[in-house]
Amino acid sequence: MRLNISKLLKLSKERKIVALTSYTANIARITDNHADVLLVGDSVGMVLYGLPSTQGVSLEMMLNHGKAVVSASAKAFIVVDMPFGSYESSPQVAFENAAKVLSFTGCGAIKLEGGAEMAETIKFLTQRGVPVMAHVGLMPQKFKIKGSFSKEKDAEKVIKDFEAVVEAGAFSVVLENISEEISEKIASIFPDVLTIGIGAGKSVKGQIAVFEDLAGLSGESIPPFYSKIQNLAQNIEDVCKAYKLDILAKG
Ligand code: KIV
Repeated sequence: MRLNISKLLKLSKERKIVALTSYTANIARITDNHADVLLVGDSVGMVLYGLPSTQGVSLEMMLNHGKAVVSASAKAFIVVDMPFGSYESSPQVAFENAAKVLSFTGCGAIKLEGGAEMAETIKFLTQRGVPVMAHVGLMPQKFKIKGSFSKEKDAEKVIKDFEAVVEAGAFSVVLENISEEISEKIASIFPDVLTIGIGAGKSVKGQIAVFEDLAGLSGESIPPFYSKIQNLAQNIEDVCKAYKLDILAKG
């Protein structure tokens, strides 16, 4: 049976929530056995498509990857990212696109980046039946304004953003690349909110990582806050070498 929001919130009171990105059916078939939440993140653009940022990701990409992950999994709660340009212009546009994501993929929730500036949209969506996971702290879609993927250091801004998205109805919030001090503060002010951290220290209810980073498939571009666990790139090299040798040997 697939996890839903109420079971996920209950589980988060008992133990840490394990979340992983997954973009394809092959990977989701495996990650589904280990993670409570699978995020079809817009990081797909950088990780699978080799784009320089997440800004080039289209709604169509998210729809197709989302559908593949939902189809290949049976247990995890699936969240699909809203890509850049699909939700910022108005709450109505956000609803139309979020409804497409929910109905086409069958996922349990959408995720969108943004704090206080997205609160009105989050309220509009949640009041109309769209479950929203928010994303504050470092927001990769805004990297052209920030100039880098650096740590969000402004504690007051992060806390204000957090409060705004929770008040607007987000059931969970991703905290990306903030100090332990800020996430400790958030945990003490909002002890009941399901926070999912990535480079946000230990004071969160769950952790998320990009699967390809952990598996050694992201080259050297791994964020500094976690390390690869395996080097599957080497295994793939070995498969290719063995295949080539086999063909050449057979003439
Ligand atoms: O797109 C993504 O993979 C994400 C995670 C890094 C949280 O948003």
